[in-house]
Amino acid sequence: MKIVLATGNRGKLKEFRSMCEVDIIAFGDILGDIEIVEDSKTFKGNALIKARTIYEKLDSDEYIVVSDDSGISVPLLGNAPSVYSARYAGEGATDKDNLYKLIESIKESGVERTSAYYTASIAIVSRYGEYTVHGWMYGDVIDRAVGDGGFGYDPMFIPSGYSKTLGELDDEVKKSISHRAKALELAKPIIQMLQKY
Ligand code: IMP
Repeated sequence: MKIVLATGNRGKLKEFRSMCEVDIIAFGDILGDIEIVEDSKTFKGNALIKARTIYEKLDSDEYIVVSDDSGISVPLLGNAPSVYSARYAGEGATDKDNLYKLIESIKESGVERTSAYYTASIAIVSRYGEYTVHGWMYGDVIDRAVGDGGFGYDPMFIPSGYSKTLGELDDEVKKSISHRAKALELAKPIIQMLQKY
């Protein structure tokens, strides 16, 4: 069984590949560009939409499709941007646009730093059914971008227990504490079980 990742996000693909011991195919390499309407109000709902859409398009029970829906939530902002993290600055926004929009929102709230957390929901769809798992990473967001490591909101996020942003910290640190890494730890045994069937 081949594992296909239902994401076009290069940052996520890079992280998945470096955290998994198995080969991961990007769905775009098989299906090309596909627009997926992620209209659920939950990470789990959107992860399932992505994985189901790609599984149906692949139209073969030889594939295990894995998707990740993730984002950042800031309690001070009513948990925004949450499931809207990829389009916080509007439809078609880039990661940089979204990062600077969140920085603006923090500044407008009159604070320099406030608590925040990342959520990752991973959905797995195969001929044997559907599974979902979650992971979280807690910390603070600050009112500026520091460092150019990671992707998305990483340059403004300081994980709990650290004094630097994920933009400054080594990739290996993020790999050991991230929301995606934690969700993937739960997803791995499921994927391994499905591969054995
Ligand atoms: P999705 O592809 O619809 O799940 O959108 C996820 C969005 O959340 C991305 O575009 C990023 O802006 C943000 N995001 C998710 N995970 C991370 C992360 O690990 N670091 C930084 N930003 C992230």
